Amino acid sequence: MTVRTILRMGDPHLLEMALPVRDFSTNALKVLIEDMFDTMEAAGGVGLAAPQIGVGLQVVIFGFERSERYPDAETVPQTILINPLITALSAEEEFDWEGCLSVPGLRGEVPRFSRIRYQGFGLDGRAIDRTVEGFHARVVQHECDHLIGKLYPMRVRDFTRFGFTDVLFPDRKEVD
Ligand code: NI
Repeated sequence: MTVRTILRMGDPHLLEMALPVRDFSTNALKVLIEDMFDTMEAAGGVGLAAPQIGVGLQVVIFGFERSERYPDAETVPQTILINPLITALSAEEEFDWEGCLSVPGLRGEVPRFSRIRYQGFGLDGRAIDRTVEGFHARVVQHECDHLIGKLYPMRVRDFTRFGFTDVLFPDRKEVD
């Protein structure tokens, strides 16, 4: 088990474009994904993108049964998503609160497409093709943003809806 250091906002690696994975059969890819799960679990997160641990590849992981960070969120299946492609299925956007392990202690209200299709590959190279909505759609859009060098504060439109988690939500037990 290797818990890796999560880069924090301000680190230039978080602003880079990640490269597609070309070879799905390498041990290095397997180890990367194991480390990502260990790191995400240790931090109590619901998702993590490879650039957050300093690896510039198009790999994201997400999923949880129940999250202390997002107690009202519905379950999202545990997923490894490589070389993802997102297609918005509605022009409609939904605003909701997001946090990020690279932006500890803060939350902001961010617009996301309410319904999306996402495609990509699992660790075994098998195709993934899902149509999702709600929090699941939000998590995927948030994680895939990391692959194009975007952090959620760059998506915040109203900065009166951005602040410290413990001030915004004093009654909630938070991990970050
Ligand atoms: Ni994030």
